[in-house]
Amino acid sequence: MDIFLIEHSGPLSGSVEISGAKNAALPVLAACLLTDDESVIEHVPRVTDVVTMTEILQVLGVTVGWDDETVTVRPDQFTGWTAPYELVSLMRASVCLLGPLLARQGRARVPMPGGCVIGQRPIELHLKGLEALGATITVEHGDIVARAERLRGTTVQLDGAHGSSVLATANVMMAATLADGETVIEHAAREPEVVDLANCLTAMGAKMTGHGSSLIRIEGVSRLHGTRHRIIPDRVEAGTLMIAAAMSRGAVNVHGAVAEHLGAVVEKLREAHVKIEPLDGGLRVQSDGNLNAVDVTTLPFPGFPTDLQAQITAMMTISQGVSLLTEKIYPERFMHVAELSRMGAQITREGATAVVKGVERLSGAPVVASDLRGAAALALAGLVADNHTELHGVEHLDRGYERFEQKLTRLGASIRRVRS
Ligand code: EPU
Repeated sequence: MDIFLIEHSGPLSGSVEISGAKNAALPVLAACLLTDDESVIEHVPRVTDVVTMTEILQVLGVTVGWDDETVTVRPDQFTGWTAPYELVSLMRASVCLLGPLLARQGRARVPMPGGCVIGQRPIELHLKGLEALGATITVEHGDIVARAERLRGTTVQLDGAHGSSVLATANVMMAATLADGETVIEHAAREPEVVDLANCLTAMGAKMTGHGSSLIRIEGVSRLHGTRHRIIPDRVEAGTLMIAAAMSRGAVNVHGAVAEHLGAVVEKLREAHVKIEPLDGGLRVQSDGNLNAVDVTTLPFPGFPTDLQAQITAMMTISQGVSLLTEKIYPERFMHVAELSRMGAQITREGATAVVKGVERLSGAPVVASDLRGAAALALAGLVADNHTELHGVEHLDRGYERFEQKLTRLGASIRRVRS
């Protein structure tokens, strides 16, 4: 297992390039199963979750090739319909294989995603959506088994207790592209990753409108063809590096940061006294270190993303005043709080809200990350803490950040990966 050795670093400066979005690449790779033709997907981040997805595709009989950040997917020998437990158990996003498997093979067996460290992550909306399209779904020996002779278009409502669901929308959208007739998804997720998937499906010959709004219409077609598609930049990586720049009193040009994907984040950072200006193809972030406490509530897009809650919490630990950080998507997503406290942060938790009182400085310490975004938050805290921080659990970070420490090092951070 790797750990990060992090030293107190000065202001970050320079330019950084954002990788492709993990959460767009995962469903887009699954969508490549919807045709026999070859598809070429560009700007794919080589992070462990994406590698796991390509391994699952290979088990299903698909030929997958990597060339730098381009992935070629050739499903002409694709006959499998069972996703293996060993790989699915590594990554909950494998559930988005259900829709494409069902649409192409008429059946799908995908292990039920198990418990998750960021709290309960039910999948009833996925099942409800696919059942509405005509699938029969059972749970056998821990696997979801879905069958459908034909999928038929219908109206599907995907509103859950916490709002829309990104991957349930992706699953229904993918299945509906090859269904008979029209499917209408009400309460669809509006995240940029859903739009990216829709754009890829459209380029494959799917007929759909409304993506990016909460009502998506899909007219089924008899077949899709291969395509070349470029994955959107990762808004969570961009947001993480913007927060890193702000925390370090830095000035960083974040190339590939898309302002429209980061509206709520830019707004909160500006409220916290961070200067953000548009740049040709990105955003410039600058801070004099006088950060103000701001309250943040996570919400589905276009609200503030849950995937940046841990990182903004880390920033609030060194901001002036008291901030309330409320999770409306995953009420249990606060594992980073206890570790930040070990570094001198003053945080109390009240249900789904973290109450943070900013302190003058954090002090470096050995800390353990237990999830992807929490790991990033602890790394950022380490960069501004006194002395050294030893971050364990880097394998969580590697699931979703490409060359994280290299990108930060090039901006002037002192962060080193070592085998423990
Ligand atoms: N939900 C239900 N029922 C369902 C599905 C979801 O109640 O059947 C609830 C969830 O419990 C949650 C809310 O709906 O409260 C939203 O969950 P969603 O289904 O949108 O999450 P997801 O599609 O499984 C994706 C990202 C997550 C990100 C969420 C929310 C991928 C691969 N994952 O998950 O990313 O947090 O959307 O934006 O796209 C991450 O990258 O760190 C990460 C966890």
